[in-house]
Parts: sequence; C-alpha cells; structure tokens
Amino acid sequence: MIDEDDPEAAAAPKGPRGGKPATDSAKAPTRAAVYLPYRPRVAKRNAAAHDASIRAPAERLAEAIGLAAAIDLDIRAEGLIPLARIRPATLIGTGKLAELKALIAEQEIELVVIDFALSPGQQRNLEKELNAKVLDRTGLILEIFGRRARTREGQLQVELAHLTWHKSRLVRTWTHLERQRGGFGFLGGPGETQIETDRRLIGDRIDAIKKELESVVRTRELHRGGRERVPYPVVALVGYTNAGKSTLFNRVTGAGVLAKDMLFATLDPTMREVKLPSGRRIMLSDTVGFISDLPTSLIAAFRATLEEVIAADVILHVRDIAHAESEAQAKDVETVLAELGIDLAAAETRVIEVWNKSDLIAPERGEEMAHLASRRDPPAILASAITGQGIDPLLAEIARRLPGAGEIIDIALSPAQGKLVHWLYDKAEVTARVERDDGWSVLTARLDADRRAQLDARLAEIGTEQGHVVDAGKPKRRRRAVAKG
Ligand code: GTP
Repeated sequence: MIDEDDPEAAAAPKGPRGGKPATDSAKAPTRAAVYLPYRPRVAKRNAAAHDASIRAPAERLAEAIGLAAAIDLDIRAEGLIPLARIRPATLIGTGKLAELKALIAEQEIELVVIDFALSPGQQRNLEKELNAKVLDRTGLILEIFGRRARTREGQLQVELAHLTWHKSRLVRTWTHLERQRGGFGFLGGPGETQIETDRRLIGDRIDAIKKELESVVRTRELHRGGRERVPYPVVALVGYTNAGKSTLFNRVTGAGVLAKDMLFATLDPTMREVKLPSGRRIMLSDTVGFISDLPTSLIAAFRATLEEVIAADVILHVRDIAHAESEAQAKDVETVLAELGIDLAAAETRVIEVWNKSDLIAPERGEEMAHLASRRDPPAILASAITGQGIDPLLAEIARRLPGAGEIIDIALSPAQGKLVHWLYDKAEVTARVERDDGWSVLTARLDADRRAQLDARLAEIGTEQGHVVDAGKPKRRRRAVAKG
C-alpha cells in the first residue's frame, strides 16, 4: 500500500498559508459577510439562453457561502449586489456602499468576501470604504487551498501560487512583508522604494520555494518510480468540489480519508490499493476538488499533483447528480481537465462518469436517471457512495475498462514452495487459488512479460517436481473451472 501523504508534512513548520497557528484556533471565528456582485442584464440574457453551463446568481452566491464556510468564517451577512454599471474605483455604487458600510459597522464584520475578480485598486478602495478586510474570489480560493494542503508539496504549491498572485497585484505596501522586514533590517538599500523592496523579497521567497519544491518533487518522483514497478493500473477520481469523491474513495477502499461536508476537503492526492471483485488490483487515487473560475496560477501549481490524473488508466468523473448545477459543474471539471491537457471527449474510453448521490433523487426521477445513465455512450453509472447503490456495477465497469495487461496462467506449487507463493501474491495478480488433495496449490495469476520471465527462472531453479506452469495455453473455459476450484 502506497500512501502519498508526506510524513514530513506533519512536522514541517507551516508557511504563511500553510495553516493557522495553534493559538489561533482558540480564537472566535472571524465575523464575515459574503456578497456576489452581478450584472442583472447579463443574468437575464443568460437565463433566457437556458444554457445549463451558466449558473444563476443565487446559485453562485450559495457556492461562495459554502466556500467561505470551508475556512470557518462566521457568516453574519450575505447578499446579491446588482450592478447597473461598474464603478472603476470601487466596483459597487456609492448608495450600496454606504448601506454595506453601515451593516458592517453594526454587525462588527471584520472580513468581506466579494465573489468577483477585483482589481488591486478596487480591493484597496473597498477596504478603506468598508473599514474591513476584503477578499475576492481568487483570494478566497487560495485561502481554502492553503488551509487544506496536507503535504509539504501541497503547502509549497499553494504558497507559490499565492505569492505569484500577490506579486502581480503589488501596488502598495504588503503589510505581512513589512512586518517581516523588521527582522531583516539589512534588507532594502537606500533609495529603494517600499514596493520594489517588497517585490524583491517576494521574488526571493518565490525562488526559495521553487528550489524546495524541486527537491520535494524529486523525492515524490522516486516514489512514483517505485510505484510504476507495481503492476497495477491507476484509477483516478476527479470531480467538482463536494461531489463525493472522498466518500466514494472510502466506500471503495474502506480507507479512512477525511470526508466532511466541507468544500475542498481533499487537496493532495491519496492512493490506496484496491482489489476488484474480478480479482484485478488497482491503485485508486483521490484528487483535489475542482471549482469554477479556478485561478490559472493554481491550476498550474497543481499540475504536478494532478499528474496522477493525467497518467491514470481510468478516470472516474464523480458528479453530484442531485445538485441543481450538476451540468455546469461537469462543464467546469471538463474545462480544468482540458487545461491539464486531458480532453474528456477524446479520452472517453478511459473516463467513467459516476452519477453520485442517487439517494437524494426522488424514486420516480431515479428510474429516469438510471435509464439516462445506461443510454449514454459510454454508459454512466448511477450510484450512491453513502448507500452503496451502484458500487458493484461501478467496480465491474472499472474492471471492464482496465487495459488487459499480462498473461493469465495457472501455476502448481508443492507445499514446500511457500516463498514462491508469497512472491506471486506480491509481484503478480493472483485471482484464484485451489488446494489440491496432494497438498499442492494451484494459483491462477496475471503476470506481465517481465514477471513471467522471472517466474520461469525461479521455476527452473526449483525444478518441475517442486512447481510448474499448468498448461498455459489451455482454453479459457477450463481455466475458469480451475479458478473456481
Ligand atoms: P472536495 O474535497 O471538496 O473535493 O469534496 P469531495 O468531492 O471529496 O466530497 P466528499 O466526499 O467530502 O463529500 C461531500 C459531502 O457529500 C459529504 O457531506 C458527504 O457525506 C456527502 N456525500 C457524498 N456522497 C454522497 C452520496 O452518495 N449521497 C449523499 N446523500 N451524500 C453524499
């Protein structure tokens, strides 16, 4: 069993975005407000277009609230902000701004999430006007990714994305670095402006992170190299955040990966070995949840982590089929995968759509969905990671899609060959074992060419009176009879 979790991560000191210090957790959660500015005219046009891939403002606000809740904010106020026109300085008009300001003061709100791509100037002006910290959509997503990163690599990637984003927006003193400079009095030569110094400090930190990342990635690749020698195909789970990937992963593996009703609970890939009912073994890989408008810098940052997906033999696209925005979410996942170089339409032979949360669908609609799923080409699997519905058909479908690696043979071994039996279980895929009356074991196993050559060498060493391959070329029907014992 191979676990991607880096043991170093637990011991490693948390970076600025790597998690909250212990003392912070005792503090009351930050009082926050979440707002979604939108253009009513555009929303009206979108609604008339009936395009399932475009979300309604209310749905987008609900998602933003879910995202804010994922970083433990105490949400005191929320709302849609219709924008008749965009004000370059503050985005929002003066009347609405005054209204927000009064509410923020009254509710003692410390943080305002504006689900919009704000310019650095707009963010600064809003902070001044509202007298509260302002976080836009990219800032919010970066914050969530930072809290969820479990491995050192994940933490470094998020910090890198965060710093790169900050650097591009640096139009004023970055207070965090300003504080840091207190400790490095020798930095910042005479005549250097505040922003130049900050840029240089960020640049230095970016270089340092890149170096550290390189070494972490090298170590991971060594592990990956090790895994490549494992003769199991990789099955990767992808899906919109909260679609139920971790729950499905747990259902299939019985492993205890963190599964909570929290957006982005999964950030780093986790791998577990799973034996399918067909006898074949796979490595099941859980990955980060996707989201609409994922900052490009983050997609780039997670490219390495998502290599598991790129290289996977089978991709399970987990969808929350009970969600009102299920279609739009599926489109977003496809967009992110396309940015990673995976064209789902072209790769359809290795993609299985899992229509999850079927238990949340009314029974009469459930039948219609099952019909729709089976009519898809290739068919989708209607399932519930919670009740277990559809899991067996899913596993059968995975087995059907796996590349047929290796040759299946029966090997008869004497009772003295326990070591070789062990070797077969370890290196090959043993699908059946029959104990004969004379004490010998007959194992049915799938081996690739290299392993077959190694087995032949071992059999030659022990001699036929201790073990041999039973009629490798025999017809399938008989082989099954042996397998069943
Ligand atoms: P991210 O880590 O954000 O990407 O989420 P995820 O896709 O891994 O989702 P996760 O497994 O954490 O599930 C999100 C929520 O959906 C949890 O509250 C689960 O209990 C719930 N859930 C998952 N699968 C099902 C299902 O089949 N039925 C129902 N009713 N709830 C489900």
